[in-house]
Amino acid sequence: MGCAIGTDVKFAAELLRSGKLVALPTETVYGLGAHALDPTAVARIFEAKGRPWFDPLIVHVADEAWLERIVQDVPPAARRLAERFWPGPLSLVLPKTELIPDLVTSGLPSVAVRMPLHPLAQSLLREADVPVAAPSANLFGRLSPTTAGHVYEQLGERIDYVLDGGPCGVGVESTVVSFAEGTPCLLRPGGVPLEEIEALIGPVVVQASTDDPGHRQSSETARTAPGMLPQHYAPRTRLRLVSADMKQVPQGKVGLLCLVTPASTAGYAAIEVLSETGDLREAAARFFGALRRLDQQGLDEIHAELVPETDLGRALNDRLRRAASSTE
Ligand code: TXA
Ligand code: MG
Repeated sequence: MGCAIGTDVKFAAELLRSGKLVALPTETVYGLGAHALDPTAVARIFEAKGRPWFDPLIVHVADEAWLERIVQDVPPAARRLAERFWPGPLSLVLPKTELIPDLVTSGLPSVAVRMPLHPLAQSLLREADVPVAAPSANLFGRLSPTTAGHVYEQLGERIDYVLDGGPCGVGVESTVVSFAEGTPCLLRPGGVPLEEIEALIGPVVVQASTDDPGHRQSSETARTAPGMLPQHYAPRTRLRLVSADMKQVPQGKVGLLCLVTPASTAGYAAIEVLSETGDLREAAARFFGALRRLDQQGLDEIHAELVPETDLGRALNDRLRRAASSTE
């Protein structure tokens, strides 16, 4: 018997306050939440996901008041980003206060914080009145869930409740920008496009490994530059990146994941088109669901085409490259 799925915010908040695990909807993907100030509750997240201890968690807050209590200082550029993009799909890494257990940050002196936009996430955070640590609610390394059903499939037996807020609107995780070293640094492309961030605060350092996920990291590198594990977001089926103009005939039972309907689909057993009009926002919202559908068809291989490297396309290509590098 798995856990209950429902829309009871009060019940979910009570569970969180008492150290239990609650999956919650956010505008990006579903999160696996626990009371962020309770180390025992946070430890249960790592156990349930099978997540390595060196990969730190994002802390979700409902308001500025909680932000002020968990971070030491918000530099002016970070403040501008928060004013513009919160609540929304942006996480800011800032020096933490004593209140945040070391387990949340894997021993790092800074914590990733975000204020989610989803109304149910907001009600839950307000009702619980504690900050909530929440990674994506999937088993470690696997596809991120964008519906309550996806969460239940992977974690239903290991957690206490799934708060059902319908399908996620953004569909890819938050953009992570670190101010830990002073100057802003992009740790993960996500729901807020880099272009919009740079338009507001000027140039942002893009961490090299984000663009080079094929480069495998030791767990030591992963500890100092967390979240850069290439083997993330992977379907179980082998995924290979192909270019639209390569015209290769698929061998065996092969599926295709592409942005728009391709000129030729000959030989493919299954095709998922992310957006008929090539709209990257629509593509992001449909991304994990499409990959999951392909993954469930018993294919020999999934071919995927990269999308334009702009706006949300940067986040999609990042996930695709990681999926390809982890199943190669
Ligand atoms: O949209 C999202 O961000 C979702 C929803 C649930 O909010 N959460 C999410 O969490 O994607 P997760 O754990 O799957 O990814 C968190 C990312 C990882 O890349 C992690 O390494 C990085 O944020 N991160 C967390 N805390 C950090 C810290 N203190 N310093 C540097 N990176 C950090
Ligand atoms: Mg994740």
